[in-house]
Amino acid sequence: MTHLERRTAALGPLHRRTLYVVSALLWLTGTFWLYFFYLGKRRGSLGPFGNESATMCLKIHGAAAMAFLIVLGTLLLDHVGLGWPHKRQRPTGVSLLSLCGVLIVTGWGLYYIGEEWLHDVTSVIHSILGFALPLFIFFHARLAKRRLNPALKKGDPEPTTP
Ligand code: HEM
Ligand code: HEM
Repeated sequence: MTHLERRTAALGPLHRRTLYVVSALLWLTGTFWLYFFYLGKRRGSLGPFGNESATMCLKIHGAAAMAFLIVLGTLLLDHVGLGWPHKRQRPTGVSLLSLCGVLIVTGWGLYYIGEEWLHDVTSVIHSILGFALPLFIFFHARLAKRRLNPALKKGDPEPTTP
């Protein structure tokens, strides 16, 4: 019986792995870009190899962002609705969703905002929040594990009615 047939919020192994791989790719490419960006600022120039690597990071980041949107869409379809009755997961779940929302809006802004100062502000917000994304996922998933594993915590084993 699959998790969909059981109708629980638990993610299947493939679903969970895809989410983790795509999130890791987003984080790594964003972080490497930041590394190159600040290295270039300090040295005055990155040189052709550094510039190419930074551009490649953003190209992969953009592709990973699209894959992330697909994964997030699948979570909105079943995970969020099925998980909602579990009151303990709501604060971290809603924070995670809001964070993704801000990353999506600022990511869009990075493509289309022309005004330099606004583009810079958007970049800082996007970079700081993006850097924090794995932490939000970690706390949300860990809370679920604690709830499910009575050895870790007594927790609320059954969903509470909203
Ligand atoms: C309001 C929004 C959300 C709610 C109410 C919610 C609820 C839940 C619940 C109840 C579980 C435990 C499932 C179980 O194993 O029985 C869970 C686990 C999890 N959730 Fe969410 N969630 C929300 C949003 C999200 C978002 C936006 C993401 C990712 C971007 C996410 C990723 C995860 C992950 C990775 C786990 C651990 C699953 C596992 O290891 O099998 N959740 N969530
Ligand atoms: C929902 C998740 C995310 C989405 C939809 C997203 C989307 C985007 C988009 C569309 C761009 C512009 C790419 C370009 O100009 O070619 C971008 C740039 C960037 N992203 Fe993300 N991103 C996400 C998560 C992250 C994460 C986790 C990090 C981690 C550090 C991050 C760091 C960056 C950085 C540093 C830039 C370059 C900023 C700049 O051009 O000034 N992003 N992102």
